[in-house]
Amino acid sequence: MLPSQRSQFDIPDEVTFLDAAARGPLSRRVRAAGGEAMATRGTPWKVGREQLEERAEEVRGRAAELIDASANDIALVTSVSHAIAIAARSVAVRRGTRILRLAGEHPSNALEWSRLAQERGAFVEILGPPRDGDWTSTVLEAIAGPAAAPLAVVALTPVHWSDGARLDLDLIAPAARRHGAALVIDATHTAGAVPLNVRQWQPDFLAFPSFKWLLGPYSMGFLYASPAYQGGEPLERNAYNSRVDDCGDWTAFAAGARRYDMGERGTPITLALANAALEQHLEWGSAAVSERLAYLTALLARHLEALGMLLVPERVRAPHMLGARPPTDARKLVARLARDQVFLSERQGVLRFSPHVYNDEADIERAAAMLRAAQVRA
Ligand SMILES: Cc1ncc(COP(=O)(O)O)c(C=O)c1O
Repeated sequence: MLPSQRSQFDIPDEVTFLDAAARGPLSRRVRAAGGEAMATRGTPWKVGREQLEERAEEVRGRAAELIDASANDIALVTSVSHAIAIAARSVAVRRGTRILRLAGEHPSNALEWSRLAQERGAFVEILGPPRDGDWTSTVLEAIAGPAAAPLAVVALTPVHWSDGARLDLDLIAPAARRHGAALVIDATHTAGAVPLNVRQWQPDFLAFPSFKWLLGPYSMGFLYASPAYQGGEPLERNAYNSRVDDCGDWTAFAAGARRYDMGERGTPITLALANAALEQHLEWGSAAVSERLAYLTALLARHLEALGMLLVPERVRAPHMLGARPPTDARKLVARLARDQVFLSERQGVLRFSPHVYNDEADIERAAAMLRAAQVRA
């Protein structure tokens, strides 16, 4: 198993950070890369545009490698919401059709679908939450819905962001395809935590940011656009996603998914941070990261059950995120634990624990001990 990587981070012994799903820390190596890039901003004449182009392509290539795509299929975007807005511009949504999404979904993969539905006279069907935690059956039943309106889009995440409940995309993706729907995946809580392969799911679009499980910078996200969707209209036109045509005008698009690249894509600091974070992650490997996190969440689950918390059922538990409903107020518990230097999040009444490679057994024991003490005091 991948050993603890804590020595690569500046996390004091007394801090237990179990909140990678909110924002991951940058490792020493990533910050060093960012520091070097920062220095070059004082001497712009030393960094040519070609070098920034090369760096952008390096980042694109590494993001592609992470999800087993080709670099041509990846756009560099600011955020997941940016990516979803691009996808929403491209998918065919006609009057009277349905867009499926999960209940309690993150706004970045929810609000744009409501806007699109309103614009086109379509409607958003909001699924769940299922009583037994089985999102997969809920989604499959809705996709099949024999009496339902035609299906235009299935907009999903493989792991629910609030509590880490897992959806089986191996079943859902082919079902969506059979019904002729576009499949748009928010892989925020998958990329970097769990092996991810676009060849397996064949989504039309798939988006992920760098600042959470990839332990990279803010304002750098990735959009996979399948070859069939590489002719769409980007949200903005800029010098990065366009190119000069034979007449010298900026009328042509850049190749492949690059046509969706953001403006100011060549930010040297962000590119350097993202590149180092992706390189570091690819060295660890998603499977090894996932295995380590599954080990830590399993240790934690035993403690939480003993404390009387209601956990996401084991059969749908993601390896890296663990949602637990406490008998007392979740928000108060999170605030109490933060005072004891144990950091996690509350989402929709659930305690959300999200360890990463810098966590170890001592962190789990400490979190459990502090929770026990906090519950006794409550
Ligand atoms: C499920 C999910 N999607 C997306 C995001 C981030 O969205 P954006 O990059 O648009 O800020 C988050 C952040 O918490 C999230 O949990």
